[in-house]
Amino acid sequence: MELEDVQRVAVLGAGNMGHGIAEVAALAGYDVTLRDINEEFVQNGYDQIEWSLGKLAEKDRINDEEADAALERIEPLVDLEAAVADVDVVIEAVPEKMEIKQEVYADLESYAPDRTVFATNTSSLSITDLSEVTERSERFCGMHFFNPPIRMPLVEVIAGAHTDEATLSLIEALAEEMDKTPVRVHKDSPGFIVNRILVPLMNEAAWIVESGDANIETVDATTKYGLGLPMGAFELADQVGIDVGYHVLEYMHGELGDAYRPCPLLAEKVEAGDLGKKTGVGFYEYE
Ligand code: CAA
Repeated sequence: MELEDVQRVAVLGAGNMGHGIAEVAALAGYDVTLRDINEEFVQNGYDQIEWSLGKLAEKDRINDEEADAALERIEPLVDLEAAVADVDVVIEAVPEKMEIKQEVYADLESYAPDRTVFATNTSSLSITDLSEVTERSERFCGMHFFNPPIRMPLVEVIAGAHTDEATLSLIEALAEEMDKTPVRVHKDSPGFIVNRILVPLMNEAAWIVESGDANIETVDATTKYGLGLPMGAFELADQVGIDVGYHVLEYMHGELGDAYRPCPLLAEKVEAGDLGKKTGVGFYEYE
């Protein structure tokens, strides 16, 4: 399939990443089905897109007509079969758990047309393992966006062991069409590139606080004003979702060893359901 053949895109999962990816795809002119497992989740995602498009228009990043047109291109759905029935590309952004993603792909294989390319927004999991649940592992790759997708320019395009060149080129071209800069990741290793760097930073920040060496505000000040990152390590964890960072770490710990052992401070937040901006409380509180 060539880029010109791509007209309809399904985004699976309407959470933090899914709704942002759907927004980016709709702004690029694609018809988008946005699917989640119940009405509430899918409506939340749709409402957040509406809010975000409104903000972008308010700040003159897009005009009102572009905002309205993008929203009209998005169809929120719960029925998976209907969501993927006639799409060219599926971008999957369901929770970062191997079993959940594999279950989705098993269903997808029977519902999506043969031509459809599968791209996963996984932050760390093996593209090869996910692709092997399907019968189209050559037309399966990683397409990893960053939070918030509407603002972050990078997309990691990751080759699994079976991915063919045509699929990688198509997904790179699609990322460019969405106004993103793709970087190809040749090795399907846990955390790919960005999370191999970023998640240990968040974890180490948590260990510093856990051990009583400094508090959250001090660590964040050093991350921002010493390293020059746009957000402190804890602010970033709240932005990304503490659960997301934690699940990535757990996976990397299992695959790569003790250097990635998650700090208990992260586990406590996840257990308490204080996951960051999306729940209103994380390391900081949000309105
Ligand atoms: N859509 C539209 N507007 C949004 C928005 C969205 N999704 N999210 C926030 N905004 C709005 C805010 O409400 C705020 O509006 P007001 O000024 O009216 O209050 C405004 O945007 C802030 O925008 P600014 O440009 O003024 O803010 P900024 O210069 O601080 O940039 C940022 C914001 C781009 C998020 C910046 O802080 C940043 O780059 N942070 C780092 C993010 C990052 O590193 N992400 C990658 C994480 S790793 C990951 O995602 C991968 C993984 O697998 C874990």
